[in-house]
Amino acid sequence: MNLSQTILGVTFKNPTVLASGIWGITSSSWKQVAANGAGAVTTKSLWLKEHKGHPNPTVISNEHWTLNAVGVPDAGVEKAREEIAIYNKDKPVPLIANVIADTVENFAKTARAIGELDPDFIEINISCPNVEHEFGKPFACSAPDAAAVTKEVKTVCGKIPVFIKLSPNAEDIKAVAIACAEAGADGFTVINTVGPGMAIDLRSRMPILANKVGGLSGPGLKPIAVRCIADVYSATDGKLPIIGTGGVHTGEDAIEFLLAGASLIGIGTAIGTRGQDVFKKVCAEMSAWCEAEGVSELSELIGGMHRKMKN
Ligand SMILES: Cc1cc2nc3c(=O)[nH]c(=O)nc-3n(C[C@H](O)[C@H](O)[C@H](O)COP(=O)(O)O)c2cc1C
Repeated sequence: MNLSQTILGVTFKNPTVLASGIWGITSSSWKQVAANGAGAVTTKSLWLKEHKGHPNPTVISNEHWTLNAVGVPDAGVEKAREEIAIYNKDKPVPLIANVIADTVENFAKTARAIGELDPDFIEINISCPNVEHEFGKPFACSAPDAAAVTKEVKTVCGKIPVFIKLSPNAEDIKAVAIACAEAGADGFTVINTVGPGMAIDLRSRMPILANKVGGLSGPGLKPIAVRCIADVYSATDGKLPIIGTGGVHTGEDAIEFLLAGASLIGIGTAIGTRGQDVFKKVCAEMSAWCEAEGVSELSELIGGMHRKMKN
């Protein structure tokens, strides 16, 4: 089964993508993810200058969900410059650079600096729910705010496609997607973690995370991700590519995302449960499903639910 696609001029040997923030810190970790079968890698969120994260404990998991309040730590653009330059020398798969900032102006400054490093796509993280006490409600929760970031970032990224990472916490994700599309977004990543949520330790009777609350990912997030992908796809008439992300563990999860409208499939939390080669496993399961169903191209599946509902 041929799982390859070309999206906005970039060829992906398969649709699986390392999601931002998980394992995506250095050039050698991106190469390790590629060797484990990923079709592309996303960097962790990159700040213009060093940003300290939250104190430990920052992550708690069970089989249903993971809560994280890592707090988006990063060494800043200078370090990213070194790592991306090393990676680009013999890049095994496309690189998506994820950018974060606190103001519209700083989003543009950071995206300009990261754009100079020649990533294949730039992903704009306007949707992190666990830095709210530092920066207020994420931009992705308001259509005008999300559009303002998109517009400014687009003016500095030249020909590099810009993907806006959306939040399930937005009251109306369709309105946010439409506003970003009108402001020039080339695609979307759908979705970031939901929440924040909280878990309490019964012995100490205190929140387990030092930050008290964190964003929820993993299997429990998947039905929300499917609905958000379907909403964004229909709001934008299926015209802009979507990196569907949130709770994917198996090839069948990935197929469900394609039917909802995703073209690429972000995988993060499942690395912890299925191992580093989850990308290879998901691709093998997707191929087996497609062969059993007589599907020969991914394009037959992408947005398939919407076409079926019209008939
Ligand atoms: C530990 C951890 C760190 C994360 N860090 C980032 C980040 O730096 N930037 C970002 O855009 N998303 C970040 N995310 C969100 C993921 O990229 C992804 O959108 C989310 O986890 C849902 O996908 P999953 O269920 O496959 O993990 C992080 C998630 C986790 C669990």
